[in-house]
Amino acid sequence: MSASSHPHDVRPVRIWDLPTRLFHWLLALAIVGLLITANLGGNWMTWHQRLGYAVLALLLFRLIWGVVGGRWSQFRHFVRGPRRVWDYLRGRGQPDDDIGHSPLGALSVLAILGVLAVQVGTGLISDDEIAFAGPLSRFVAADTAYAATAYHKGWGKLLVLGLTALHIAAIAYYRLRHGRALLPAMLHGDKPLPPHTPASADGWRQRALALVVAAACVAATLAVVNLGNP
Ligand code: HEM
Repeated sequence: MSASSHPHDVRPVRIWDLPTRLFHWLLALAIVGLLITANLGGNWMTWHQRLGYAVLALLLFRLIWGVVGGRWSQFRHFVRGPRRVWDYLRGRGQPDDDIGHSPLGALSVLAILGVLAVQVGTGLISDDEIAFAGPLSRFVAADTAYAATAYHKGWGKLLVLGLTALHIAAIAYYRLRHGRALLPAMLHGDKPLPPHTPASADGWRQRALALVVAAACVAATLAVVNLGNP
């Protein structure tokens, strides 16, 4: 039986810690800003570049938070093998499948993070031969930089748009088709679940740790960006 099917014996349980929620909404804002600035072009490309660096720092943060973050943000608690995904799709899920990301949702999370990582990577080494060159473009051969630019502006952009659209559509689908509201937990952190459900730690210690990790990720991002500006 799934954890969300005990409607009478539930209480709010912290699932998404504050750092994960901030990560999510900052990422969503950055993606919107990146799409707008890419379309405006011209001087807006400076902001496109800065927002791209912000996404790099956010992705690094999520990678580390996936190891040291709150229980349900940890990769080991939501990344599942094909067997588990298959069982979930056939309606034979495990009790904890619907607490954090479902096995299927986890796949989409990994796909979004992966596609964004490639998008940031190709942006860093891109060179459009006109006005824009990524900070690491001088470390790669011209052909590689042009191929990266073509991917970044073509398939890469389409994949980011497609996965984001799919992501939002899936959340609407769960709400409308299955009556499962996933959005509130990404806003306030809690899901109504049986009282024995283990919660994600989200106290001041955890948040202080997140600040340290975030500062390290910003420093690492600046170091990467400055590699190209000796
Ligand atoms: C209106 C826009 C959006 C809404 C309503 C929304 C909503 C949500 C919700 C409800 C979840 C939790 C899903 C679950 O319970 O399994 C989630 C997770 C996630 N979303 Fe969004 N999202 C939006 C935009 C975006 C955008 C633009 C991106 C990036 C392209 C994004 C990337 C992610 C990622 C990576 C996660 C996993 C979070 C984590 O585990 O750290 N979302 N989103």
